[in-house]
Amino acid sequence: MKTLVAYFSWSGNTEKIAKRIVAKTGADMFRIERKVPYSEDYNTCAYREAKEEIEKKIRPEIKTPLPDVEKYDSLILAFPIWWYTSPLPVWRFLESYPDWKGKRFIFLRTLIQMIITT
Ligand SMILES: Cc1cc2nc3c(=O)[nH]c(=O)nc-3n(C[C@H](O)[C@H](O)[C@H](O)COP(=O)(O)O)c2cc1C
Repeated sequence: MKTLVAYFSWSGNTEKIAKRIVAKTGADMFRIERKVPYSEDYNTCAYREAKEEIEKKIRPEIKTPLPDVEKYDSLILAFPIWWYTSPLPVWRFLESYPDWKGKRFIFLRTLIQMIITT
């Protein structure tokens, strides 16, 4: 069974978890990254960029070509909660594929730093 770990991470928490899963399972990994990077400043990222995308339902472009998901039986999708939902590049990723039928999904949402630092 082939698994893909697709993850989005802004400040690194989800990335650490994704890398641990990959190290333990040997799954492939794909980073969902916005083509135009979010600001490194929390307030700009949270209160301007991310908020605007959510309010306007924007689907921002992803930086790298998307993986061929046909090769995988399972997909672990890891992302932080942003404004009570997922970052919009994750929506873009999910909506880029016409059909997810037959795939097994595991959603991993990182809420707080505690999870990964312990
Ligand atoms: C733009 C933005 C919005 C966020 N919104 C929420 C939220 O609605 N609820 C929550 O519990 N945490 C929220 N957080 C906190 C993140 O979910 C948390 O810090 C997470 O561990 C970050 O993961 P990352 O390091 O992989 O980016 C938000 C963080 C950012 C940057």
